[in-house]
Amino acid sequence: MSLPKAELHLHIEGTLEPELAFELAARNGVALPYADTDELREAYRFEDLQSFLNLYYELMAVLRTESDFEELADAYLARAAAQGVRHAEIFFDPQAHISRGVEMGTVVEGLGRALDRGEAVHGVSTRLIMCFLRDESAESAMETLEAAKPYLGAGRIVGVGLDSAEVGHPPRKFREVYEAAAAMGLRRVAHAGEEGPPAYIVEALDVLGVERIDHGLRCMEDPELVARLVRDRVPLTLCPLSNVRLRAVDVLAEHPLVAMLDAGLVCTVNSDDPAYFGGYAGDNFDAVREALGLSRERLRELARNSFVAAFLDDDEERRARYLAEVEAYEFGG
Ligand code: ADE
Ligand code: ZN
Repeated sequence: MSLPKAELHLHIEGTLEPELAFELAARNGVALPYADTDELREAYRFEDLQSFLNLYYELMAVLRTESDFEELADAYLARAAAQGVRHAEIFFDPQAHISRGVEMGTVVEGLGRALDRGEAVHGVSTRLIMCFLRDESAESAMETLEAAKPYLGAGRIVGVGLDSAEVGHPPRKFREVYEAAAAMGLRRVAHAGEEGPPAYIVEALDVLGVERIDHGLRCMEDPELVARLVRDRVPLTLCPLSNVRLRAVDVLAEHPLVAMLDAGLVCTVNSDDPAYFGGYAGDNFDAVREALGLSRERLRELARNSFVAAFLDDDEERRARYLAEVEAYEFGG
């Protein structure tokens, strides 16, 4: 669906399509334990978050040079633009690269080369959000924040996030890192309530001071928390196709998106790891429209929310322009 939208929950490493993975593997002399792209696609069957993460980290081995990261981001921007994405706040996982001997500068400069052209070539404005791996130590996260210092600011890293295996790794583990990030003027988000309990959402708000919750699906188990999220207008970056593939919901028709919107939550729809979960941002909009019978006004509400929730405070003119595009959009069919 080409309805103009911002994508606020997108892991750039999760946009690595099998074809590009094999191309980069050949170029970099990395052996993949799959015969071809079909066999690799066959491996895209997940039991839960961890079974996905295992493959996600394994495939990253093909990403080695600035050019690799540049091509990855370029390919994402082209696909996203074709599905109406006008603004993308892109996550990346520096620790997953640094631990393989790929430096922060290689990742950020490589991605940055593509992002710098994002607007001219694809008509997509961008921001970078660096995520800490919550199953790694707080010390490692702090070192990663230090390593990012040369790359902070407009055009590069504007915020921090928290991802990877959620259960058993509560937000409070990263209190000091988030305090340091806030002192550096960075925006703060965190995955919470994907597989983890509603209490992790509360902690992300209270202890880490996050401005948006990534996923947040399980807030629906705690009416008091829902009331708080509604009152404070805390945006949730939902990823419906991801929720089905990682079995947070059984089938899309049972996704709580409509109940969440009805409750007054500021929901957005995003793709998470589109190469693995069966679709990019527009595909997620199409899928929920179909499975949940969303009206055009509901779809417009989701798109509007995405721009309201975007970190565009430094460019309100742009936000207003995007919001006007949402209102002017004419649905086909
Ligand atoms: N890393 C990439 N995608 C993720 C997700 N959906 N949850 C947690 N960590 C992730
Ligand atoms: Zn995610």
